[in-house]
Amino acid sequence: MNLKNAVALVTGGSAGIGHGIAKSLIDSGARVAITGRDKAKLDKAAKELGAHPIHADVSKEADVQRTMRETLEKFGDLDILVNNAGLGTFKKLVDFDLASFERTFATNVTGAMLMAREAAKHFISKNRGNIVNIGSTASHRGAPNGTAYYASKFALRGMTECWRQELRKNNIRVFLVNPSEVITSFGTAAGFEQKDNPSKLRPEDIAHAVKSVLEMEDRGFVTELTVFATNPAD
Ligand SMILES: NC(=O)c1ccc[n+]([C@@H]2O[C@H](COP(=O)([O-])OP(=O)(O)OC[C@H]3O[C@@H](n4cnc5c(N)ncnc54)[C@H](OP(=O)(O)O)[C@@H]3O)[C@@H](O)[C@H]2O)c1
Repeated sequence: MNLKNAVALVTGGSAGIGHGIAKSLIDSGARVAITGRDKAKLDKAAKELGAHPIHADVSKEADVQRTMRETLEKFGDLDILVNNAGLGTFKKLVDFDLASFERTFATNVTGAMLMAREAAKHFISKNRGNIVNIGSTASHRGAPNGTAYYASKFALRGMTECWRQELRKNNIRVFLVNPSEVITSFGTAAGFEQKDNPSKLRPEDIAHAVKSVLEMEDRGFVTELTVFATNPAD
């Protein structure tokens, strides 16, 4: 697809990987709306990027419906949904509390489903569209303390497979992009420290992958792409 003048909606575009993806799409000529829960952070990021801010929580159905309405009101169309908003909760299985488990699924799984559902209605009506789900290497393997986060990313991968099968006949391309560790505020939000190092991935590396899969001619698409740092040092 040609990104020039395309309309994209990036959830969690106010920071980290989503911010990087929004920047890359805008630099390619796309018109972009970004979402986030922290209004001050969202407005600041939108101003820097030249994006349209939509203050919304993907885990809230009314917010998701308003997000789609506002995007269509602002730009008159939607070509790309990037389901990027996500968070992590990491605890031993025996210590897992229900609230943390449900909070992780509410954003990473239910939120992605609600956003995709609303975008798909629009895409089906015009017989064209793109959904990019930001998974993780956690979509493919387990790890200690990963009960909620890893399971949520397996679920996102599962939904990606279902949506792809269901929506291909409507010319809707559904991608899964799986980053390995990327230096963002994800760790801080999840309560652990990420050790920064120039050998580790940056948001712009994931943005590059997302832009590349989108720019392929519409007749084809890369189903899933996993991005590793070549030789990350801690
Ligand atoms: N960083 C990594 O190493 C890594 C690796 C693999 C995959 N990923 C995935 O990449 C995605 C982005 O992560 P990141 O590293 O960029 O994290 P980040 O720096 O913490 O950014 C997360 C973004 O999502 C927003 N957000 C969180 N929950 C939301 C909700 N319920 N509704 C709307 N927006 C929400 C945040 O803003 P507010 O808090 O203001 O809402 C923020 O803009 C996530 O899906 C994550 O699982 C990250």
